[in-house]
Amino acid sequence: MAVGIFDSGLGGLTVLDAVHHRMPDLPLAYMGDNAHAPYGVRDADDVYHLTKNAVERLWQEGCDLVILACNTASAAALRRMQESWIPSDKRVLGVFVPLIEALTERQWGDNSPPREVAVKNVALFATPATVSSRAFQRELAFRAIGVDVEAQSCGGVVDAIEEGDKILAEALVRSHVSALLRKMPNPQAAILGCTHYPIMQDIFQDALGPSVKVFSQASLVADSLADYLDRHPNMKGSGQVSKFITTGDAEQVSVQATTFLRRKIVFDTV
Ligand code: DGL
Repeated sequence: MAVGIFDSGLGGLTVLDAVHHRMPDLPLAYMGDNAHAPYGVRDADDVYHLTKNAVERLWQEGCDLVILACNTASAAALRRMQESWIPSDKRVLGVFVPLIEALTERQWGDNSPPREVAVKNVALFATPATVSSRAFQRELAFRAIGVDVEAQSCGGVVDAIEEGDKILAEALVRSHVSALLRKMPNPQAAILGCTHYPIMQDIFQDALGPSVKVFSQASLVADSLADYLDRHPNMKGSGQVSKFITTGDAEQVSVQATTFLRRKIVFDTV
């Protein structure tokens, strides 16, 4: 049994870490498409084809269930994959829905009609491709009414994090938060809609101020995955070993990943 976790680069490691803490005995196969990161500046067709290749690679590792730990892929490719491509014995799940269920105070998998919720003003921080897809607003509209979402496209942040340039990443986060606050001065909640951003969560919180509740995906996705696997134990797949694979330079990605997660991570080439 193994579950696949995919991201364009290092960001999905925040989800992998949370899943590992939640289910330490579950083997996880991680794939980073570092050769093609960032996805956030690509068009939807490009993201769709790259994501399909990565998911197929994780199926080869015995992962019947693959988590797209990438908002950009979840936003630009998941619906199209689910509608026309994924075979009936496989599942591919994204990272938006657990976040929106938490924001709208729903139980995991509650598909009842949209209703009024406590939160009214929400700031969304994400990549340019995620923002322009409006996938977050679409998924939210299925579950809640009367919520105003102001989205801020955070150009440059993923590149700075991938390059390990925390100083640049912090400066960019602060400038994107200021831009958002000019459009929506008093958000009640902020969504970190990119799996790279939890690494900058303290900076987002500091720039937004203490009254804003910051939602980040890693632990929410881990909790909802645990619930899903309880309900669908057959989706754990046949793979037995945890591994990290990349389309990039394995040695370089291992060093970056070790810095990113602050524990030793060794990648192999795809
Ligand atoms: N971690 C990906 C996400 O959640 C980063 C996207 C990118 O490669 O630009 O959107």
